[in-house]
Parts: sequence; C-alpha cells; structure tokens
Amino acid sequence: MVRLFISGFGTVGQGLVEVLKRRHDFFENRFGAQPVVVGVIDSKTVAIDQNGLDMDAVVARKTEKRTVSDQTYSDSVKALDMVDYDILVEVSPTNIKDGGTGLRNITHALECGKDVITVNKGPLALKFQELTDLAKRNGCKFRYEGSVGGAMPIINLCHENLVGENIRSIRGIFNGTCNFILSKMDNGQPFEQALKEAQQLGYAETDPTNDVEGYDAATKVVILANAVFHRNVTFSDVKITGITGITPDAIAQAAAHNMVIRLIGEISETRLEVAPRLIPIGHPLSIAGTLNIAQIDADLAGPITINGRGAGKIETASAILSDLIAIMDVRE
Ligand code: HSE
Repeated sequence: MVRLFISGFGTVGQGLVEVLKRRHDFFENRFGAQPVVVGVIDSKTVAIDQNGLDMDAVVARKTEKRTVSDQTYSDSVKALDMVDYDILVEVSPTNIKDGGTGLRNITHALECGKDVITVNKGPLALKFQELTDLAKRNGCKFRYEGSVGGAMPIINLCHENLVGENIRSIRGIFNGTCNFILSKMDNGQPFEQALKEAQQLGYAETDPTNDVEGYDAATKVVILANAVFHRNVTFSDVKITGITGITPDAIAQAAAHNMVIRLIGEISETRLEVAPRLIPIGHPLSIAGTLNIAQIDADLAGPITINGRGAGKIETASAILSDLIAIMDVRE
C-alpha cells in the first residue's frame, strides 16, 4: 500500500483526489491496491488518518468550510510528521521569492527519506540543485513533471523517451495567461480586458504580475535548464522581459509583416531567456489561446514539437498521476 500526504489542498490537490477516483480500476489492475491518502494540509489545517482518510468527506468539508479539518497547525513540517507516509505530493501555492512553505515541506520530506512529487515551481526554480542533491543522497524519488507545461509532457519525455539524445535547445510558450492575452490583443482586445478574462478562466497566478512580467515562464525555463540541460542555474540567472510593454501598435506592425508577438522561453547550454519574440503566422510557436507549446531540438531525432494544456485542475493532476505511477512501479 502506498501512502500519500498531500500538502496544499486547492484546485490541484482536489484535482488529484478526483483523478485517483477516476483511475480506481487502473490502480486495482496494475497494483492490486489503491494509493491511500493519510494526510492533507491546507494553509491552516491538517487532516490525518493512518488508515486512510475518507477523501470524499475531506473534499466536502473543504468546499463547505474552506478548511480540511478543525485541527490547526503552527508549522507545516510538524503537521507532516503527524502521520507515516511514503510520498509527499507538494501542491501548495507557488512562492518565487523564497520558496515559502512548499520549499520547507519538500526539504523536510526528503530529509526524512520520503519520495516527493511536486508541481510547485518556486522551490524548483530557486533550489533545484540543492533539492535534487538531497533526494539523491537520501535515496528518494523526486519528480516534478507538472511543474512545466501542466499536462504537456516535457520533463519525463526528455528524461525517459529522449534519454539518449543530445538536446540542443528548447524554445516554447510556457505561460498560458500571456499567450491568451497576446492572442486577444491580435484581435484588437485591450490588455487589461484580456487579463481579466484570463483570471476568470483560472489560468493566471494568484498575483498575475508573475504571469505578465514573465516570471512564471522564467520559473519553467530555469527548471528545464536544470532538469534537461543539467545546468546549475537559478531564477535570478534568467534574462526576463514580460509583455506589459507590448502596445497595440507593436501588434499591428507585426501583423502587417504576417507576424505575431509571443512570449517565448529559450533554453540551451548558453541561453536562458524569456522575452517577447516576433513569430511568423503559421509557425508552430504562433499558437493562439492558453495552450503551452515546446520545440525540442534533439541531435538524433531532430525537431520534436509538443503542446498541451499548461494548467487546470484535472490536467495538472494528470501529470502528478504519471509521476505517481512511475514511483509506484519501482516500489513494487
Ligand atoms: N499562470 C500559469 C499560466 C499557470 O498562465 O500558464 C501554470 O503555471
């Protein structure tokens, strides 16, 4: 039996619970058992049951009262220690200033020898090397597919399917909010109105400055640089330009030359950058809407292009599911 502790019980945490339910038969057939959630924390409260929580009840309670139980905690890592678990699923809100609670939770779990799955970009963008080294030292699995591109497979694709390749570069669109805004601006909609719509769709970060200034895309660029290119870089090493300076006039001028402006992240041995770029209409990176896309240039395979939903409750949980199955496969 695999025991999960979920830290962070917002959209993604609850999405995972729904996905586990939907894959009940899959787990039964592949492992002969279900993963069991023995602990959940949100920002204030903790729910634990060593025999497995009734997750329908926890979700219902969260919906009704906005907390997972009546039991508050003062320190999240102490809450993690209240129960025995095998895998920490860290899906608390991203903090790109200092990594926040997510960084503390991941570090603590790895120090305790637990496997960790996360989609939390802050800790990875700030402390990638430290966390992967800690995981290695303690023999822990540490997976983070959903941190870049949500449901779009990219990290495990590079690590597993493209394992023998020499990946020369990755260029892509890693922020759905910016792409949505730029596509709306292509059709004459003002920036502010497009941003408001992106927020209503639930795509934008809690503070949308992180989207429009390019910081969110930069977290993904730095994660890919470390994970795929084995560079030892951090968030402050990324050269970042957002989309707030893009005027309707610039969009019109691009259109007059059959181009669109897109916020592109670029990673290679020498590049680490997020900036608006002119992209010819019809080029894969001219994609409109909230999708994420990446072009991988591999020396043997040549160019590989992937796209998919970069955020969303079930979509992000799908990436967590693949990491969970990969860990369960090797635990068997
Ligand atoms: N705010 C992000 C986006 C969500 O707009 O793509 C996924 O990281």
